[in-house]
Amino acid sequence: MRQHVNPLSKVFNDIEPLPPLKDIFEDYTKPLHLDIGCGSGNFLINLAHHNKNWNYLGLEIREKLVNKSKLKLKDESIDNIFFAFGNAEYLIEDCIGKFPADIVSSVSFNFPDPWFKKKHYKRRIIQPQLIHKISQLMADGGFISIKSDVEELFEYMDMTISKSKCFITYNYKDSEIRNSYNPIKLKTNRENYVIGNKLRIFEKLYKKI
Ligand SMILES: C[S@@+](CC[C@H](N)C(=O)[O-])C[C@H]1O[C@@H](n2cnc3c(N)ncnc32)[C@H](O)[C@@H]1O
Repeated sequence: MRQHVNPLSKVFNDIEPLPPLKDIFEDYTKPLHLDIGCGSGNFLINLAHHNKNWNYLGLEIREKLVNKSKLKLKDESIDNIFFAFGNAEYLIEDCIGKFPADIVSSVSFNFPDPWFKKKHYKRRIIQPQLIHKISQLMADGGFISIKSDVEELFEYMDMTISKSKCFITYNYKDSEIRNSYNPIKLKTNRENYVIGNKLRIFEKLYKKI
């Protein structure tokens, strides 16, 4: 089994700030979706192809995966996607005050690393400080989506987001799915694996109030 990257390692303390949005997207005024821990990038590339009304930003702590995702874009003619390397928490922190207010319309956490041992819980991506930073960056009415096949991790993430008081549990209305970042319900690599193995998926949506 692949070893997870420890996001608390000092090597991830520094990030390369993102370029201004106007330099990375053809039309930076479109609603922006952030996929945190975007892995291979395939999910986001598919989304960017299918849904030109949104911009997509993938954050990933494995530099090799980010470089590979960028390489995949070389042969593609899409101008609504960008991948950034680093600890998502620091990348998001850096975007606060730099991104136009209300541009980040949704954020997804798809099958984050579980970090099963209690002494490693702090390495789990969803932490109170990250949720606070997302709430500072995100438009009112924006959404956070979480998915996991690990029930205990799902409950940990749910508890952390629910405690923030900035988000309420929500179910998309049909019209909202059509206009969401993922209108045709594309699936991530991990999600396809989980479905193929008939494992259960735990998922929830939150709306910023
Ligand atoms: C289990 S994989 C899931 C990948 C993809 N979302 C999917 O559903 O197929 C979790 C990903 O999150 C990344 N990750 C973990 N902690 C992170 C952090 N603090 N910042 C950015 N990415 C992180 C990992 O490197 C890994 O690629």
